[in-house]
Amino acid sequence: MSSWLKSAVFYEIYPNSFMDTNGDGYGDFKGITSKLDYVKSLGCNAIWLNPHYDSPFMDGGYDVRDYFKVSPRFGTEEDFDEFIRSAHAKGIKVILDLVPGHTSEQHPDFLKSAENVPNEMYDRFIWTNGEWIFPEGFKAISGRHNRKGNYIVNFYSTQPSLNYGFARVDDPSWQMSADSDAAKKTREWLKGVMRFWLDRGADGFRVDMADSLVKNDGDQSEKKATSAIWREIRTMLDNEYPEAVLVSEWSNPQAIRAGFHADFMLDHHGNPYNLLVRGEEEKDTYSYFDADGRGDAGVIKDKFNEWYNAVKDNGHIAIISCNHDTPRLAPFYNHDQLKIIYTTLFTLPGVPFLYYGDEIGMKYQKGIPSVECGFARTGSRTPMQWDDTKNAGFSSADRPFLKADVDKNINVAAQQRDKKSLLNFVKELFAFRKAHREFVEKDFEFMHAVGSEPLVYKRGKLVVVVNPLKVKSSAPVELPQKAECVFSAGKPAKVKKTGIDCPPLSATVFSI
Ligand code: GLC
Repeated sequence: MSSWLKSAVFYEIYPNSFMDTNGDGYGDFKGITSKLDYVKSLGCNAIWLNPHYDSPFMDGGYDVRDYFKVSPRFGTEEDFDEFIRSAHAKGIKVILDLVPGHTSEQHPDFLKSAENVPNEMYDRFIWTNGEWIFPEGFKAISGRHNRKGNYIVNFYSTQPSLNYGFARVDDPSWQMSADSDAAKKTREWLKGVMRFWLDRGADGFRVDMADSLVKNDGDQSEKKATSAIWREIRTMLDNEYPEAVLVSEWSNPQAIRAGFHADFMLDHHGNPYNLLVRGEEEKDTYSYFDADGRGDAGVIKDKFNEWYNAVKDNGHIAIISCNHDTPRLAPFYNHDQLKIIYTTLFTLPGVPFLYYGDEIGMKYQKGIPSVECGFARTGSRTPMQWDDTKNAGFSSADRPFLKADVDKNINVAAQQRDKKSLLNFVKELFAFRKAHREFVEKDFEFMHAVGSEPLVYKRGKLVVVVNPLKVKSSAPVELPQKAECVFSAGKPAKVKKTGIDCPPLSATVFSI
């Protein structure tokens, strides 16, 4: 089992938006390679790279046209290899985005399957057996090909579902079982894709919609047949690539039971991440970091404990600052708030995933026109802000693929100069985290979690105390008088005989 994951700190890079070295307005591999020292300077020792494959980009690259080829948009095959080599030379692991459930509608295997005579790809995708069949519970696309049937898609109409079979076959005239020969062939094809990139140096995968493979497979906490596939793949990794890691987009402890090393706790309604930093007023839930105190740490504690206890013996929770599908936390929070939020997220038990630009507080760009079917997500995918020159230093193009937010404070150069910047804070936080094994061990316990009162939790001999409010507050937790503040965001809290006094907007770590 991979040994490096538990002390990994990831940086998520959306390649379109990171650094453009050839002036075509899109980021590229050479650009990422040129910024590896920057990534390292943050204290990150691993990268999750969003899809880098050949694609028509009808869903930001999550529609793969050729799984064995890099997108020329990002450079040459050699540029990719050089990126991996340089990252490894600097001690940075790289996990790639694996899209196992669907291809692009332009994938040659799909086009072959769409021909109106049976052929070797006929069962690689899921087709109904008639052009007027629109099965309930599925998205079926009609009238695009001459094959007498409609194809099922996983997400957009451009993303036909690969055929991993059905756990419950309702209509045998077109649904195959998960252990049919066709489904087995799809599985073998997927293993081939994984071996190809692992042989080429990848250290593992973030797996897109990992729970989507087998159809009619129950809800997220069941997925028996899908889980069986991943367990088979995990066995392959353990035998052939024991250091490779699998991180799932599943967001349920079932992912760990299915063999994933880590699983993202995503921004889904009502889960601990969502309740900590998001909240949805329209659904009457508030973030714990709501500075007016409408959040509820008690609910977060119960839900987090349940999740953590379900995964901790066999895997990890992957904890994000945000990601390419989620609105960034800025401008909804200011930098002082972000400091305490990051301290909380990245000292809870889990593997940190920092989304590019979150370290400088890049803002979610509300309402910008959608690009490559990002829709609302486009606002989280704008170019990295390196400085305050043209296109924020991202590209020399006159019109980059997305407009950069040129801001004289929210950029790397300005924040490198400012000792108190969010960027320098993030570096200190990750350095502090690295220096304390407690954060990668499993020892974890909530000591106080009530309403919007300070949240207090223990990691071995360290105690984290967070006050999300604009006013001072206190927690009725007795710590030893000798407890020493070893890290803080905002003014440090003080240990009193009867409890802990917290300044407004503060996060303090005590060593007891
Ligand atoms: C995942 C990706 C998202 C993509 C979708 C379809 O949720 O994170 O960006 O659009 O899957 O592949």
